[in-house]
Amino acid sequence: MTRPVEVPAVAKRPRVLSGFRPTGPMHIGHLVGALDNWIKMQDTHECFFAICDWHALTSEYADTSRIRDYVEDMALDWLAAGLDPDKSTIFVQSHVPEHAELHLLLSMIVPVAWLERVPSYKEQQQQIANRDLTNYGFLGYPVLQAADILIYRAEVVPVGEDQLAHLELCREIARRFNSLYGPVFPEPRAITTRVPRVPGTDGRKMSKSYGNAINLADPIEESRQKILKMVTDPARKTRKDPGNPDVCPVYDLHKAFSDRATLDLVNVECRRAGIGCIDCKTYLLSHLEPVLRPIQERRARLVQDRGRVRDILAEGARRARSEARKTMELVRAAMKIDTGIRP
Ligand code: TRP
Ligand code: SF4
Repeated sequence: MTRPVEVPAVAKRPRVLSGFRPTGPMHIGHLVGALDNWIKMQDTHECFFAICDWHALTSEYADTSRIRDYVEDMALDWLAAGLDPDKSTIFVQSHVPEHAELHLLLSMIVPVAWLERVPSYKEQQQQIANRDLTNYGFLGYPVLQAADILIYRAEVVPVGEDQLAHLELCREIARRFNSLYGPVFPEPRAITTRVPRVPGTDGRKMSKSYGNAINLADPIEESRQKILKMVTDPARKTRKDPGNPDVCPVYDLHKAFSDRATLDLVNVECRRAGIGCIDCKTYLLSHLEPVLRPIQERRARLVQDRGRVRDILAEGARRARSEARKTMELVRAAMKIDTGIRP
């Protein structure tokens, strides 16, 4: 006699939100540092990924000419890298105006001193000398980020180390809201995965502002040329000099993209001048290219079909918005500011 098979209830997946500011092309540092991780989480979590165009405005308000293009490019880069609109909600922040509404309400309960204390606030003001960052919106950057997260009542936020202070502030804001008005928001946990250092072609941290990045959108030939020109151990002047992988940025890229056998080989042969830097970079390319090529192919197809990309963002915004509206109803009710009148 056969018994009916019991279908286990599908456990609710923890909800994730993360995002990026559309201020330029995504590069292989973003792939290793964030996108690879997001792509994995799509199968285990309920994911929301936001292109945070309002956050870009907090610093780029004076020259907005490129933000629209960057938004679309970022969507292309994400989809090409493997974010899947059937698994995740991929959307543009400004398409979900509830982020702004929650930001405004949260701004009432956030002491200015909390914001002035955020390390990135003064640092960025000092570092970015060519723009005036004394604007109100820039001070409120972390409040808007908290709204991005809390509007979905997200539990998990995968971010880089540089965002931990913002996440801590988000948790404090959630706590303060809950203690003033009753529990509405879970306190979101930051998840930082240990990621290998990804230096740019000049050996400094890969960053679009240093002009040292290998972008996901670069044609393969361009990535090749960038790697072949990349700086190596500065003490290794000629092919006959032994090198030191521990101080070589190319070796850091090997650690991010190559397999154990290649790492071991380079580690031995570089030190006794058994291989030259061109050989070494060729090995690296043999591991990097299989990662980049499918991304490029998907990207090329999507560029031919921008209508589809726009449809994906429109659908993402609809899904995001329907969740955001549910949260706003809870928020207004908790704060007792819902008049019950439907204008
Ligand atoms: N501040 C983040 C960064 O610069 C981008 C961001 C905006 C974000 N809103 C977010 C990240 C919400 C995580 C969650 O990278
Ligand atoms: Fe760097 Fe490789 Fe040259 Fe050694 S052989 S210095 S690890 S590029």
